[in-house]
Amino acid sequence: MRTSIADIRGLHARGERIPMVTAYDYTSAQLVEQAGLPMILVGDSLGMVVQGRDSTIPVTVDDMVYHSRMVVRGCSTPLVVTDLPFMSYATETDALRNGARLLAEGGATSVKLEGGRPVAPTVRRLVRAGVPVMGHLGFTPQSVNQIGMRVQAKQAAAARDLVDDALALQEAGAWAIVLELIPAPLAAEVTRRLDIPTIGIGAGPDCSGEVQVWHDVLGLFSDFVPRHTRRYRTLAAEVAAGLREYADDVRSGAFPTAANSAAMDPAVLADALA
Ligand code: KIV
Ligand code: NA
Repeated sequence: MRTSIADIRGLHARGERIPMVTAYDYTSAQLVEQAGLPMILVGDSLGMVVQGRDSTIPVTVDDMVYHSRMVVRGCSTPLVVTDLPFMSYATETDALRNGARLLAEGGATSVKLEGGRPVAPTVRRLVRAGVPVMGHLGFTPQSVNQIGMRVQAKQAAAARDLVDDALALQEAGAWAIVLELIPAPLAAEVTRRLDIPTIGIGAGPDCSGEVQVWHDVLGLFSDFVPRHTRRYRTLAAEVAAGLREYADDVRSGAFPTAANSAAMDPAVLADALA
């Protein structure tokens, strides 16, 4: 049975920390399920790590539906949360239409959207219409052109705003909030003040759970390791080594062999060519 929001509330109520990771396709979703994580984020980070774009801004609702469907087909137990992409919730009407698509066509259980008090009415509207909402505060990548890619809410006024934003999202009916790239003590305080779980990324050790991007934790880029992540494997090197060996074997004739091939009675072939 698929993990429900009530199940996540149960984990949180028992003080169990909640691990979450992104996944963007069928095979990776299968692996997340095998690893026993309760939640998958189909993040609009796919714009960068899957599509090779510079930001999440060009990602469309169609993209998110497409990737959600693949992820949902690949797993039957993790709860799947899908990002509403840039400009897909600019009006409440857009939010309802696009939120409905992510659930009805994509198969997600919840959407996630970025922002605080300005989007609280939208969150309330979605929740009332049956679309569960996870919030996202701190560094919100869809606003990268305004806020830059840096730690947010380091000063008193911005930190106070973030606390108020978190409370407003909870009040509007959000069931969890991602806190991205904010000081650890602020994330800890927000987590203390909220009843709903906080899911951190670059927000210190005291959130209710953590979310990380698949490619970061598995070392699938060779480029760089952001401070907020930890490489649990270096799959990029493994994959490149495997591909090199494969190519070498093709070049040398070591692969494929008879064991990888279908045989044919020589008489049948001779007959075919006669
Ligand atoms: O798109 C994404 O992967 C995210 C997480 C980093 C929180 O929003
Ligand atoms: Na995102």
